[in-house]
Amino acid sequence: MGQLERPGRHRKPRGARQIYEALKAQIEEGVYRLSERLPSTRALASEFGASRTTITAAYEQLAAEGFIETRQGRQARVAPALRPGQLTRATSPKARRSARLSAFGRRLSKLDGPAITAEPLQIDFRYGDLAASDFPRLAWRRALTRALARSGPRNLRYQDPAGSKTLRAALQAYLWRTRSLRCSVDQIIIVSGSQQGLDLCSRIFLDAGDPFVIENPCYWAARHVFASVGAIPALVPVDHEGLQTDALMAIKRARLCYVTPSHQFPLGHVLSASRRHDLLRWADKAGAYVIEDDYDGEYRYDIRPIQPLQTIDEATNVIYLGTFSKTLSPLLRLGYLVVPTELVDVFRAAKRLTDRHSPSLEQAALAELIQAGTYERHVRKLRRKNAQRRAALLAALSDHFGDTVEAQGSDAGLHVVTWFSHFDASQEDGIARQGRQRGVGIYPVSDLYEDSRGGAPQRRAGFVFGYAALDEREIRAGVGRLANALRTG
Ligand SMILES: Cc1ncc(COP(=O)(O)O)c(C=O)c1O
Repeated sequence: MGQLERPGRHRKPRGARQIYEALKAQIEEGVYRLSERLPSTRALASEFGASRTTITAAYEQLAAEGFIETRQGRQARVAPALRPGQLTRATSPKARRSARLSAFGRRLSKLDGPAITAEPLQIDFRYGDLAASDFPRLAWRRALTRALARSGPRNLRYQDPAGSKTLRAALQAYLWRTRSLRCSVDQIIIVSGSQQGLDLCSRIFLDAGDPFVIENPCYWAARHVFASVGAIPALVPVDHEGLQTDALMAIKRARLCYVTPSHQFPLGHVLSASRRHDLLRWADKAGAYVIEDDYDGEYRYDIRPIQPLQTIDEATNVIYLGTFSKTLSPLLRLGYLVVPTELVDVFRAAKRLTDRHSPSLEQAALAELIQAGTYERHVRKLRRKNAQRRAALLAALSDHFGDTVEAQGSDAGLHVVTWFSHFDASQEDGIARQGRQRGVGIYPVSDLYEDSRGGAPQRRAGFVFGYAALDEREIRAGVGRLANALRTG
């Protein structure tokens, strides 16, 4: 396989000034995009044959001029917005310091998730996107129109913060039918996407300084929302049986534990039966609540459905979290929590103060689709389509990379993690950049590890490939382009 791209139009500049010029030109020309992470000082030092002090000096100059942002212990990033002329003033650290923020506000500035790129690349394996053609436009439009027609003057007012009773009743039956999950209608709280469910949990259970348990690697948006209230992550590694529950015993005072037991995000393992029991026993003893994020439970291929943790008898401390972002669209911002009875009131109160309730017309439309069976037919259709996309991806990876690439977690969900045995984790950014230059988006798995780079143990290079937004032809073409990029360097 070929060499990684060498940064710089100028070959091997050695002085800080030259390196600064080269990087500045690349930022201006869009080689590095807004908010994109720059290579570590160690990686650049070895690329340029310069010392890390020289690279640090170049970075400091770029930061002082507002081209990049640097933070202690974090990799430098291109600034989120570049405005010629106003640049230095707009983003200077001094300007940022002068804003009077709460502790929460100050924490937010240190929690930067993946860049939100408005436009996907030509062939983008960005996880979380769905194909526009998969959205049931006609059925949704009809259901929404009927919901509007039904909404007489009595309905055009604030509604129950827990959500529409019709939708919750439809969901209760759906969860029982499809996930063997039994609950009362009152235990269901409709939220504006899983993210709001996580946000409510963070504020209901965590105070600054409280530890929370989270998998490593994990879903960054969960980790960040708990950290935003000042809680401290207690990272628990995962292996082929999911969360390593042995490590829980050493964690004291945790109030919350976030897990993805049916399909660990991102690696895809299923939490084993014995560890499920260990986890529940630990939670009971510790007095902690477990958030079970069942984000892609609808997508299983060639394997039996995996029952939620919530269905186990001892699961009295489990908060189940579901979303419509993977079956309909993330733009609907609709999800739900199933909470233990004793928590219903506090969740209703929190939801009411946050946004009164989730949008009612959309809830009514969704309730109709579930009740009429349209939603389940749609999910079955998407499961078949995504099984084909997944098969195309696995075949293309095998054709182009043979046994140098291992795909993990492909039995379920809408993404796989691919491990490249001939590259290591420090090369992930370079590989992703090479893909991007050919219009292909792939996403380094190290971004989802807390130990991430620097102190990270030597790992193979790994990437999250989301495939739900692409058709089979695009998937094959994307993998082919990537293979070419890595061959030619
Ligand atoms: C682990 C996990 N949970 C939940 C979600 C869905 O989030 P939301 O319902 O807020 O769109 C995602 C989306 O990518 C995810 O990766």
